[in-house]
Amino acid sequence: MVTSPPKPSQELSAGKTKALKENILTPRFYTTDFETAAQMDLSAQDTELQAMLAEMRADYNRHHFVRDEAFNESWDHITGEDRQAFINYLERSCVSEFSGFLLFKELSRKLKDRSPLLSEMFNLMARDEARHAGFLNKAMGDFGCTMDLGYLTKNRVYTFFPIEWVIYTVYLSEKIGYWRYIIIYRHLEKHPENQFYPLFRYFESWCQDENRHGDIFKALLRSQPKLWQTWQSRLWSRFFLLTVFATHTLTVHERTGFYKVLGLDATKFDAEVIRKTNESAARAFPSVLDTENPEFFDRLHRSSDLNLKMSQIDGSSQPKWLKALRKLPLQLSIFGHLLRIYLLKGVDAEALRGTVR
Ligand SMILES: [Fe+2]
Ligand SMILES: [Fe+2]
Repeated sequence: MVTSPPKPSQELSAGKTKALKENILTPRFYTTDFETAAQMDLSAQDTELQAMLAEMRADYNRHHFVRDEAFNESWDHITGEDRQAFINYLERSCVSEFSGFLLFKELSRKLKDRSPLLSEMFNLMARDEARHAGFLNKAMGDFGCTMDLGYLTKNRVYTFFPIEWVIYTVYLSEKIGYWRYIIIYRHLEKHPENQFYPLFRYFESWCQDENRHGDIFKALLRSQPKLWQTWQSRLWSRFFLLTVFATHTLTVHERTGFYKVLGLDATKFDAEVIRKTNESAARAFPSVLDTENPEFFDRLHRSSDLNLKMSQIDGSSQPKWLKALRKLPLQLSIFGHLLRIYLLKGVDAEALRGTVR
């Protein structure tokens, strides 16, 4: 389904950088069918989109992403695994924000003459994502390793997604991003002793950008009846929810160290983010997953354990072919668990809203 992201060793500026670990969970760069995007009839959601455009133009976070004096300290006291875990977190976040920037910028450019409303909307979203990626990159600089975003721009490798898939997945990544940022922010409000770096203080207004982006994609989704009125749309909705949630569970459990430093239990954090995102999605998608089914988190956690075993195999000094052979049954097993989750009865979101047609 996805192609390889840019070569990790080359995408980072030389010397003071570390390699971005590349696997199926690494954030991707996307491209889409711009012609179909330009032809979308948005009239069903015109009022909502005009309101969102006015909000985006108002640019509430214009002055938000300015580093204050709290960043001027030295961060050399954060060492060892904690430091590594935090750098990995920053790196992954920076790549996903930047990937959003590139996609939105490209959409804005390609739709300029065809769909002025969408073009402006994407341009304003690209503005936000550029700020987010830049802010994270400066934070990485505080820890002695920045990403060469210019290099990434020139050497990116695209994964093609039809515009329908882009709408489902970007909606989800914006909403899951919102919940991730706000849950960390609210936790640190209650536990300021765990605020080991000033970045997290910025998350409250930051996540409102992601929330707005999510709402724009919700309006796009609801403007296209085939994305929510058909039986296929129900299957696609649950499919994308599952891929986003599985990726989340696996990556969060690969980085439990980072969440521990924040005073968060990785498993609880992951579950809360997934439940909230699934609830949000019920306002946009025709069908969502039943996170309360006992099998749901049980199978996700079993997949995550298998994924950790695969990482151990990857880290061993065995020959490549042997690693691949040992990982195969684990991969099949993960696939089996995810398939079983997918086949669980979903939740009819249209019926929840009382707007079944
Ligand atoms: Fe963002
Ligand atoms: Fe966003």
